[in-house]
Amino acid sequence: MPQWLKDAVFYEIYPQTFCDSNGDGIGDIRGIISKLDYVRSLGCNAIWLNPVFDSPFMDAGYDVRDYRLVAERYGTNDDLVALFNAAHERKIKVLLDLVPGHTSDQNKWFLESKKPEKNEFSSRYIWTDSVWEAPPQYKFVCGVTNRDGNYLVNFFSSQPALNYGFAEITHPAWQLPPSHTDCQATVEAMKDVMRFWLSKGADGFRVDMADSLVKNEDGDKPETCKIWRNIRKMLDEEYPDAAIISEWCNPKTAVGAGFHSDFYLDHDTNGYRLLFRDKDRKTGECTAIFSKNGKGDIAAFLEEYLSDLKSTKGKGYISFITCNHDTPRMTKMFTTLEAKIAYSFVFLMPGVPFLYYGDEIGMRFIDGLQSKEGGFSRTGTRTPMQWDSSANLGFSTAAPDKLYLPVDSSDDAPTVESQESDEDSMLNTIRRVIKLRHENEDLQSDGDFEVVYAERGKYPFIFKRGKFLIAVNPTDKERTAPFDFDGIPVFTIGKACIEGKKIIMLPQSLGVIKIQ
Ligand code: NOJ
Repeated sequence: MPQWLKDAVFYEIYPQTFCDSNGDGIGDIRGIISKLDYVRSLGCNAIWLNPVFDSPFMDAGYDVRDYRLVAERYGTNDDLVALFNAAHERKIKVLLDLVPGHTSDQNKWFLESKKPEKNEFSSRYIWTDSVWEAPPQYKFVCGVTNRDGNYLVNFFSSQPALNYGFAEITHPAWQLPPSHTDCQATVEAMKDVMRFWLSKGADGFRVDMADSLVKNEDGDKPETCKIWRNIRKMLDEEYPDAAIISEWCNPKTAVGAGFHSDFYLDHDTNGYRLLFRDKDRKTGECTAIFSKNGKGDIAAFLEEYLSDLKSTKGKGYISFITCNHDTPRMTKMFTTLEAKIAYSFVFLMPGVPFLYYGDEIGMRFIDGLQSKEGGFSRTGTRTPMQWDSSANLGFSTAAPDKLYLPVDSSDDAPTVESQESDEDSMLNTIRRVIKLRHENEDLQSDGDFEVVYAERGKYPFIFKRGKFLIAVNPTDKERTAPFDFDGIPVFTIGKACIEGKKIIMLPQSLGVIKIQ
């Protein structure tokens, strides 16, 4: 286990829209380098960089054309190495985004694979043995190549699935078992991609759709897990300090498969959804636990979370996120104050937390934008970072119509500059809570988590992490709970008072109390 994960706080950077250093309207690696001191000022000591590789950008770079080449629009391979070095000088780690499940249909492996003549890459992807064969349970692209067969896609139609085999073989004519040498060759090719960047200074990978490798596999996906354990073994032997963090959203399985941490994502009815994004299906009313409506149920979240926490304890982590590039920013449903409480909670939980760029200033989800590079409903979450009051809010010097996406045009669009000097701003609140985390091991990734007060459908929620008690009342009503500790508040939003053996929490408050 890389020791640095114990106190890691990540910042996710969407390279397209973070900082444009050359005025072409799109963010780039030199721009990111120029903002590393800012990242450090937040207390973030690690970065997850969304894909920066050569790509036709049908899915914002999750359609990789060349795994070993930085896309021209972001710079060069040397720029990426310069980013690793500049980050390391500031004690910041950098995780790249590894997309192992699929490539672009313009990747040279695929260009070979689609040829009718048999070659080294013929079964690097999943092909049926005839163009007339397309079993309905799979997502095939049919009749678009000269090869007599259809190919399986993993996500969008431009993303053919790499071949790691089938756990259960229902069509022996074209499905291979994961143990087949051609499927093993895919695993080895992916390991080589990882070695390529690790040897240049990358500190590991966030792994896209990590559960999607072996097909015809449900539940705990033992064959996919076997592949990851094999990859983890390589890392342990060759790059023991490198971290892999999965997009799986099943921490028990993912950590068991060798991932150091697994993301807790916004999935239908899971605990993360209950916390921050739940809605009444009929009325559309926000019923998330952190909404001021007070209609959430903390007990339902804990049922799921405590079991995941228990089964990963000592082996790996669960990663809470403020948001990511696929999810509506919390400010779409929440007011700034609701979001401030919710984001602070993210940094007070065990595991390795992730801050999505711009959330630290309460950037908004921008409605009504035309889709960009396969963003669709996700586009409003990917708009340019808002630095200051200069042109394009400091993101780029390009003409506004040349920007990758428009900047937030509202008069009160939050910026880093406007929040710097305000002690109570979202920016400074996030900095304070991250600082508190770094200063106290109890609040870091490995620190204990113990529920103190969590009644079904009730508030506040009180939990303990070592010598800290954390009490949260996101609702717009005063709430009281039995309380029997003596302590001093070390971080607060709103106000909580202790009276006798009761804690009285004013509306929309959060307190971290150091127990005496
Ligand atoms: C998950 C990524 O986060 C998302 O942005 C992408 O579209 C899909 N995987 C496909 O790679």
